[in-house]
Amino acid sequence: MSNQKQTIMKRIGIVGISGYSGMTVLKILFNHPQVRVTYVSANNTQGKLTDIWPQFQGLTKLTCSKYDIKEALKLTDLVFLAVPHTVAMQITPELLKQGKKVIDLSADYRLNNKQDYKKWYNMEHQDLKNLKKAVYGLPELYREDIKKADLIANPGCYPTAAILSLAPLVSLHAQLINSIIIDAKSGVSGAGRKATLNFSFCELTENFKAYKILNHQHTPEIELYLKKLNKISPIIHFVPHLLPIERGIFETIYIQLKEKISLHKIHAIYKKFYKTEKFVRVLDLNQQPQLKNVAHTNYCDIGLSLDQTKQMLVITSAIDNLVKGAAGQAVQNMNIMLGYPEEEGLL
Ligand SMILES: NC(=O)c1ccc[n+]([C@@H]2O[C@H](COP(=O)([O-])OP(=O)(O)OC[C@H]3O[C@@H](n4cnc5c(N)ncnc54)[C@H](OP(=O)(O)O)[C@@H]3O)[C@@H](O)[C@H]2O)c1
Repeated sequence: MSNQKQTIMKRIGIVGISGYSGMTVLKILFNHPQVRVTYVSANNTQGKLTDIWPQFQGLTKLTCSKYDIKEALKLTDLVFLAVPHTVAMQITPELLKQGKKVIDLSADYRLNNKQDYKKWYNMEHQDLKNLKKAVYGLPELYREDIKKADLIANPGCYPTAAILSLAPLVSLHAQLINSIIIDAKSGVSGAGRKATLNFSFCELTENFKAYKILNHQHTPEIELYLKKLNKISPIIHFVPHLLPIERGIFETIYIQLKEKISLHKIHAIYKKFYKTEKFVRVLDLNQQPQLKNVAHTNYCDIGLSLDQTKQMLVITSAIDNLVKGAAGQAVQNMNIMLGYPEEEGLL
């Protein structure tokens, strides 16, 4: 029986293993009974995986080498691409052509038209064929499409928290919305492992700042997938900030409403919308999300508040950027694609 089980275990590749997201995919998959990681690669970082990530000492004998398409094709059934955008769209076409499934954690396949890609990522898209067929990997909204997909565009970290926070309201009551302001904060691991001066300890510690105000590349992603939920598409004002902590995203979303609404009604709508979702927790009205409650988990916690005019709704949400905002959500997508229980390895 155990031999039989071994033969059907899927072989997984992780490209970008020396980065935070790639490492987090691997860490999660160590606890996944139905897959095994058989191929890892990076760009300049090479050698024994336990030299790159000593915390995996005793858990793996894998070696990291420069990405090689022949090796990837020979050794894997499904590949996670945890690489910078522009790199993923060069690797993806051949993997798909040879029948592999791909989960791309970068932004390369998230915006489904070439004009938006060029505008926000400053480069011509190089894989238009697959750009059209990629499925946006937000399981709570696109589970049925994900089941049939070969290529997943894993959502960005800020968009994951923002879209999950707004989906019930936008899907069911978009006509009530006057304006939306997303005040978002991210821990430093959101910028990846490669150190630059702006992200060095002395620049960040005891500091707090906004960046790319009203001009961040995640804005069109949030707008695009909210627009798919309802023809009435609200304009988003999105302001990200950098928190001097390692991990976590916290968003405070201010929604000016056109009409009065009751907080209990909104709460009931949210509870019902996410009733069967394992990883979205709509909190009781006397509770608020906290980063500590979601760190190292695949949960998105959502809190709701309304002011005395009953026309200013404040939604707060918290995720771990490396888990529900990247690697955890990617594994959730893999589970759906391969027909495993969605929470396998994630609880
Ligand atoms: N960090 C987050 O919270 C987060 C959240 C959501 C999505 N994402 C997205 O996930 C992707 C990875 O992010 P990260 O934060 O994990 O980045 P990271 O820590 O900077 O790691 C990037 C990885 O990509 C590898 N790489 C770079 N160029 C490559 C190439 N040409 N071929 C093969 N491998 C290459 C790097 O290898 P070397 O070490 O050899 O350079 C490294 O392993 C990015 O697209 C990012 O936008 C990140």
